[in-house]
Amino acid sequence: MAMLYQRAFPLLDRIDPERAHRLAIAALKTGLIAANLQPDPPSLAQTLFGIGFPNPVGLAAGFDKDGEVYRQTLKLGFGFVELGSVTPKPQPGNPRPRLFRLTADRAVINRMGFNNHGIAAMAERLKSRNTAQGIVGINLGKNKDQTDAAADYITGTRLLGPLADYLVINVSSPNTPGLRALQSRDALAALIGAVLETRAQLTRRPPLLLKIAPDLIDADRQDIAEVALASGLDGLIVSNTTIARPAGLDPRFASEAGGLSGRPLFEPATEILRDIYRRTGGKLPIIGVGGIASAADAYAKIRAGASLVQLYTALVFEGPGLVRRIKQGLAELLARDGFANIADAVGADTLGTDGL
Ligand code: FNR
Repeated sequence: MAMLYQRAFPLLDRIDPERAHRLAIAALKTGLIAANLQPDPPSLAQTLFGIGFPNPVGLAAGFDKDGEVYRQTLKLGFGFVELGSVTPKPQPGNPRPRLFRLTADRAVINRMGFNNHGIAAMAERLKSRNTAQGIVGINLGKNKDQTDAAADYITGTRLLGPLADYLVINVSSPNTPGLRALQSRDALAALIGAVLETRAQLTRRPPLLLKIAPDLIDADRQDIAEVALASGLDGLIVSNTTIARPAGLDPRFASEAGGLSGRPLFEPATEILRDIYRRTGGKLPIIGVGGIASAADAYAKIRAGASLVQLYTALVFEGPGLVRRIKQGLAELLARDGFANIADAVGADTLGTDGL
């Protein structure tokens, strides 16, 4: 499988990235990409938010924005998949080109702009979901033309909350004007409060997580940590793509607007993950995401404070066999370090350094 993908990659690399993504979705739909149904190592299982996760490796938001292939991606071995970002109304997103593959950097820049089919289409695809097939989170965004941001997250919570294993408030995409301003203290507290009120009216109440940007100064980080703890939020996702452009990126693409993901994001996203874990005293489960391309990367996020991890960009370069390799490698790393279960390793590095 890995060999097959590695051989096919030079070909895929020549195809326009957005077409390659559509091809991947189509291949998943037809079952052309083989399932990986080996049982997960028991040391990788844990319960968080009252949900039993078979393994900690998830598919990050943005790959399956419309919930077209969640059954198939779960079969690739992911412990959970996150759909979206989805907005109340369908919208086309930004003009193309809006997705750039930086192969030498093992990175992607995207300015998709929440292209998606809307909440009704997502609800239709999920309404007959067999929950035994795996854990499905839904990541909520807002429409570009919506001035009352909270209204869109409330609509998302009301209509998709009953269909999701967890919900995510995404206020960290760099591609919707004004969105990231919702991360400031008062706006965030009001938004989370409104969404939690809506959730309280549902008969089935999914855990609520907040996904944050990596480009936050100290004061913002502290505000987010305090609001997250005080508000009753269930967890955090750290992080979305970065608007920073580290030195050395392929000069053909470095100045494209949008969010950078993949290898160059690993260090900054892990740094902010560690920092947020400290600032929240390890009290809120964190999903660590950004630049994970190996078991060692996933393990570093976990030791920094992540209870779960997600990836997207590395899948483009490594192919779907990566999921199984990360799981196997993680189980080996846990055993090497004497951890019986993944939960015991969460925050091990951060704990070690300042005795949380
Ligand atoms: C994303 N990501 C993303 N995140 C989100 O919350 N909502 C979204 O709609 C999208 N869309 C999206 C599209 C594309 C093409 C990419 C590459 C990424 C961000 C993604 O979920 C993740 O946070 C980052 O990509 C960092 O992880 P990786 O890709 O470095 O593993």
